[in-house]
Amino acid sequence: MNDRADIPGPRSRALAERLRRVESPGVTTLTDDWPIFWERGQGAHIWDVDGHRYIDLGAAFGVMAIGHGNARVARAVASQAATLLHGMGDVHPAAVKVALLEALAEVTPAGLDLAILGQNGSDAVEAALKCAALVTGRPGVVAFSGGYHGLSGMALSVTSRRDFRDPFLPHLAGPVTFLDFPQTVDTAEQVLADLDRRLRRRDSGMPPTGAVLVEPIQGRGGVRVAPAGFLTGLRRLCDAHGLMLIADEIFTGCGRTGRWFAVEHDDVVPDLLCVGKALGGGMPLSACVGGLTSLGRWPKADGEALHTSTFLGHPGACAAGLAALEELHERDLVARAATLGRVALDRLSRLDVVDVRGRGLFLGVALESGDRAFRVVSAALREGVILLPCGAAGETLSISPPLVIDDADLSAAFDILDACLRSERP
Ligand SMILES: Cc1ncc(COP(=O)(O)O)c(C=O)c1O
Repeated sequence: MNDRADIPGPRSRALAERLRRVESPGVTTLTDDWPIFWERGQGAHIWDVDGHRYIDLGAAFGVMAIGHGNARVARAVASQAATLLHGMGDVHPAAVKVALLEALAEVTPAGLDLAILGQNGSDAVEAALKCAALVTGRPGVVAFSGGYHGLSGMALSVTSRRDFRDPFLPHLAGPVTFLDFPQTVDTAEQVLADLDRRLRRRDSGMPPTGAVLVEPIQGRGGVRVAPAGFLTGLRRLCDAHGLMLIADEIFTGCGRTGRWFAVEHDDVVPDLLCVGKALGGGMPLSACVGGLTSLGRWPKADGEALHTSTFLGHPGACAAGLAALEELHERDLVARAATLGRVALDRLSRLDVVDVRGRGLFLGVALESGDRAFRVVSAALREGVILLPCGAAGETLSISPPLVIDDADLSAAFDILDACLRSERP
């Protein structure tokens, strides 16, 4: 094990130099202090190429809910790779696609038994937006400030951050209406009343709108939880005006918030549910899930699929997803997210910070500024904890560890976070 003062270590620095020469500069941030290059993962632990060990408080963008190096997933992928690694997703599909879709239908809310598979979260969002436009005949979408739904074409059109959108504005002419994402019950009522008014009035300036797209907890937007009654209110408005409610659960789904899907906390069933990240157990897999009144109303494929891609239902990803769902069930990880989440929230709430919020093992620690959050993130990395900032100004620390993290590791990581908050003053 090398000295922690030397993070990133010499091997990481050398790889950064090599990467600089072969990857577009727009992808990986490369500075003297960033990044470390990962070599191995096990449970909630990561080892970098210089032999430093870290506790992963982010589960690699929320993906590794079942932990890094999961043996069941590794076996499933190896076995699938040895038998059939690629099928013809929408033509002659691999058998494992059926098993994965059946397992997914077991955990999604009642009535949401159909799906279109994809590889990334953005794919699931695109399929959902297409579905709403196809079924309602109205292409307009209501989305929310702070919302993040991916960076591909249609997904970017409903993602609110200006820095992502501005360079591509001419391509984003999509009929999207952005509303404020409320943070209190009172403002939620105002947003709902405003939306109701706009949907009633023909002269409101809103394009013909067929869908409302919402994250039950905004992830990259700063771990902002929809206030009580907001999702229920959106459901009511969608029913009243014939709109589809699309829940983007790409971050919150598969148990992260202590329920299989975060909409369950509010007893809301959306028309469409977007799932990704943790679904594939580390392999690229996503799904747009719906029921007979949404996905069921697509025209029947007749020699051509209206929406597909080369790798749809990729056998390796489906096998990994199936294993990940089994792992979540068998180890009761959804309940664990709820229990450990309460412990974590209690511990974090004792920190001297601007705000602590979230649900289950999806928590945000808000600081005074993005500058301080970045200093804390960098200091934590040097001390052996991986976490990322989120929020409009990068001011919030995003905490979404693997659901398998043990109490001791979580507590050790929080001790380090506490120390870094003290050393990196406002
Ligand atoms: C809520 C949400 N939706 C969609 C996406 C986009 O997913 P992907 O990056 O896999 O395309 C993300 C990614 O962070 C997300 O958090």
